[in-house]
Amino acid sequence: MRAAAPQTTEWSNPHAAEVRKLSTLLEVSQALLAAREFKTGLVDVLEILGDHHGALRSTVVLLNHQTGEVAMEASAGAIDSKKPVRYHLGEGITGEVVQSGRPIVVPQVSHEPRFLKRAAERPELAHQELTYICVPIPLDGQTVGALGIDLLYKPNRDYERTTKFLGVVGSMIAQAMKVHQLIEADRQILVDENTHLRLELKERYGFSNIIGTSRAIREVYEQIAQVAPTNTTVLLRGESGTGKELIAQAIHYNSARAKKPFIKVSCAALPQDLIESELFGYEKGAFTGAHASKKGRFELAEGGTLFLDEIGELNLVTQVKLLRVLQEREFERLGGTQTIQANVRLVTATNKDLEKAIAAGDFREDLYYRLNVFAIFVPPLRERKPDVLQLANHFLEKFSRQHGKHVKRIATPAIDMLMCYHWPGNVRELENAIERSIVVCNTQVLHAHHLPPTLQTAEASGTTIDMSLEKATEAFEKDVLQDALKSARGNRAKAARLLSTTGRVFNYKVRKYEIDWRRFKS
Ligand SMILES: Nc1ncnc2c1ncn2[C@@H]1O[C@H](COP(=O)(O)OP(=O)(O)OP(=O)(O)O)[C@@H](O)[C@H]1O
Ligand SMILES: [Mg+2]
Repeated sequence: MRAAAPQTTEWSNPHAAEVRKLSTLLEVSQALLAAREFKTGLVDVLEILGDHHGALRSTVVLLNHQTGEVAMEASAGAIDSKKPVRYHLGEGITGEVVQSGRPIVVPQVSHEPRFLKRAAERPELAHQELTYICVPIPLDGQTVGALGIDLLYKPNRDYERTTKFLGVVGSMIAQAMKVHQLIEADRQILVDENTHLRLELKERYGFSNIIGTSRAIREVYEQIAQVAPTNTTVLLRGESGTGKELIAQAIHYNSARAKKPFIKVSCAALPQDLIESELFGYEKGAFTGAHASKKGRFELAEGGTLFLDEIGELNLVTQVKLLRVLQEREFERLGGTQTIQANVRLVTATNKDLEKAIAAGDFREDLYYRLNVFAIFVPPLRERKPDVLQLANHFLEKFSRQHGKHVKRIATPAIDMLMCYHWPGNVRELENAIERSIVVCNTQVLHAHHLPPTLQTAEASGTTIDMSLEKATEAFEKDVLQDALKSARGNRAKAARLLSTTGRVFNYKVRKYEIDWRRFKS
């Protein structure tokens, strides 16, 4: 809390007054910098003027260039802020300051004819005389608004100094306004770009089930779009859980083969002696137990796409057979003599280092070249951090629905943990982590303590391993306080009520944990 400075010493001790003005300017600049929203920053500034400089009430008005009207943007003190306050340019004292760009000082409001009408609305004037000072807010050679404050009338007040001081505050407000306008313009561009990109991805590529807009994943989308309409063999590479299968499907469903089958074979899941018959099929009596002939996956995928997952696990004998199909586009069933034409597009995937496997003699180099016609490298999740939150929200919605829960959002500290973690298991690990959290979460908000223990480790959360009960409790308490502030949009009194505690206790804890409550204002 800002302590209200004593008013009496200022005039008797000019040095103290100067120091106070400087420290106020520092506070003003910090408040303007810290606020996410320009308006919030303004209110903070006006409160500072109230606390430190005895402003009984204060307002900032801004000029709307289109309508030519001056409207109140922020106020503090005894002002009915719900009542819209508007002036025409040149109207009243405030309107005149905005029009002329020059400050106006009204030492005694009760003597000012231009105030008389409004003075009737000021019941306190009956028992105290007020001074009104209004300074322009200048930006790039134009006046864009005005800052006005009411002070208690004091016959010996140095109006010139006070006006100069307020003028500096006005300039600082103008600079902050400029910065916020620039940031807002940039943000708008980003929002537009993102919306546009999502629509484009959805419409052009039909990749709506692949989440992510990071630069890295966008490059992958581009590659999918390039290669999907062709018949080219594609090799998908990338760590486990990065989404290779999803991409194989996207390639198929965005190709001319979309209406034909998409057949998947996992080369690691099948025993090596079975894989050949799975791929190429067999004739009756081809081996013991082959009581009837059976079509292989190549035949089932006729006209469509065959996705060979974990191709790095394929044995050398089957590699030779696969190579032949790729070269000659034909094959025979096991035990069969009839040659079957294969009109199949092949997409393969691996998380193995195939070059190493070639060097070790486990993978045929000639097959490698046949498969590696168009390679798409799917980046690990840690290299596309901007996607983590989008993916987390996507899975939150999906599993909330699936498990009949009503989890609506992820708390800020939990988001921080998701963002810090390095995700060795990539998107699959994130998907599992969110599902597990949803299962244990019985509130509308997913908190850090709902996340799996792997994310709570020292490396993941940046905390020390030997966390004591006290530390853990404190971390939890901070979590809860921040969440209440978020729900109350930075209103500390409301946040305290949400937690069924008093404002005093709440503020004490906020200070204790050095929580910047202003960042929750919106
Ligand atoms: N960009 C994404 N958007 C939405 N879901 C995704 C994305 N990437 C991956 N997933 C999901 O993550 C899980 C793992 O993805 P997938 O099975 O495609 O990984 P993989 O690269 O084939 O892994 P592995 O090498 O272990 O087979 C799947 O449930 C998939 O739906
Ligand atoms: Mg896979």
